[in-house]
Amino acid sequence: MNQFAVQGQQLLLGGMSMTQISQALGKEVFYAYDRDVITAQVHKFRQFMPSRIHLHYAVKANPYWPVVNHLRALVDGFDVASQKEMLLAIQTGMPAKDISFAGPGKGDAELRSAIELGVTLHVESVGELNRIHALGLAAGKTPQVALRVNPSFELKSSGMKMAGGAKPFGIDEEQVFDLLADFSAYAVKLRGFHIFCGSQNLKAESLIEAHQLTFALAAKLTAACPYKPEVINLGGGLGIPYFAGEKRLDIAAVGASLTALTEQYKQQLDGIELVIELGRFLVAEAGLYACKVLDKKQSRGTTYLVCNGGLHHHLSNSGNFGQVIRKNYPVAIANRMGQQDTEQVTVVGPLCTPLDILADRMELPKAEVGDWVVVYQSGAYGATASPQDFLGHPAVAEILL
Ligand SMILES: Cc1ncc(COP(=O)(O)O)c(C=O)c1O
Repeated sequence: MNQFAVQGQQLLLGGMSMTQISQALGKEVFYAYDRDVITAQVHKFRQFMPSRIHLHYAVKANPYWPVVNHLRALVDGFDVASQKEMLLAIQTGMPAKDISFAGPGKGDAELRSAIELGVTLHVESVGELNRIHALGLAAGKTPQVALRVNPSFELKSSGMKMAGGAKPFGIDEEQVFDLLADFSAYAVKLRGFHIFCGSQNLKAESLIEAHQLTFALAAKLTAACPYKPEVINLGGGLGIPYFAGEKRLDIAAVGASLTALTEQYKQQLDGIELVIELGRFLVAEAGLYACKVLDKKQSRGTTYLVCNGGLHHHLSNSGNFGQVIRKNYPVAIANRMGQQDTEQVTVVGPLCTPLDILADRMELPKAEVGDWVVVYQSGAYGATASPQDFLGHPAVAEILL
């Protein structure tokens, strides 16, 4: 799973070894992101998807400012999940109409801010719609909204299911139709609909099935809508392989099916902007997490590499961000690439908890104190999805190269 160059025994990101990056940053624990890999992922998406589909970046996957700014020129819009992310998106110069704000439990200050900026609020409940209506009247502005629909179907084989059954996200499909029948009571501009079923899916057939159901629902919603929607967000969910044995998503098959669906629903969805929003697919493979071996010790037959980085910077790699059974992310010793002399080690971080594991019983090149441990597939849900203050160790640095 190494998408980066190797020179001698050194792994390079953006042409630099881990030691060079560390010296440039003045830090010994960092995330490094490769802008070319991000760009290539966007191109891969565009290569296989119908040109009608707009691509939005879900900022939550990696809100590091240079990453978001890099993507500004490559994508058609941003999906944000908080006021902070929304302001970040606005400051890249992305037009407000191409920024959507989804997520349950938006506070009044966040709603007011979105109304003021003209960002599209993805409405998660009838209660939220009532608050948006009242805040818009108070501000003398018309809120831009899209209804997030919790469909009756689910996205099968998804790392995280976010639709179907009872969910805190969106308004149940059956309630949405009742709401549309009486929608003129709301002083808001209904721009469209958002149907997000799930995340981290590697099975083309599951995504294809969900897309078929999503298009059918989108056509029904369009027919029931008092005005023609401007935009329908079809969700996302394209996954990337993290663990040994996982097969890459067949994006060509997903693209072919979407091309057929846009053709099939051409009339019903004519003139409506269709959006897919992706986070990890665009950035996860572009990132490495790098930390240094501080200690090497034996305990009753196990060799431990103890590092200066771990769970507090990279919660998802430790297995505590939604995994049921912990599996190892791909890991390497970045200054011993290709070394034949290997051994089985368990790589741990500096925290006093058995949860702080970077790699469990993995065969790696024989490493020494001062070597670089790197975790691949770390460009999404890393620094900002981790409890950095836990135990007060130094914060992790970031760099886009
Ligand atoms: C509404 C919404 N959009 C987009 C995403 C991004 O998902 P991913 O990073 O898997 O593409 C999420 C993830 O939780 C989400 O909740």
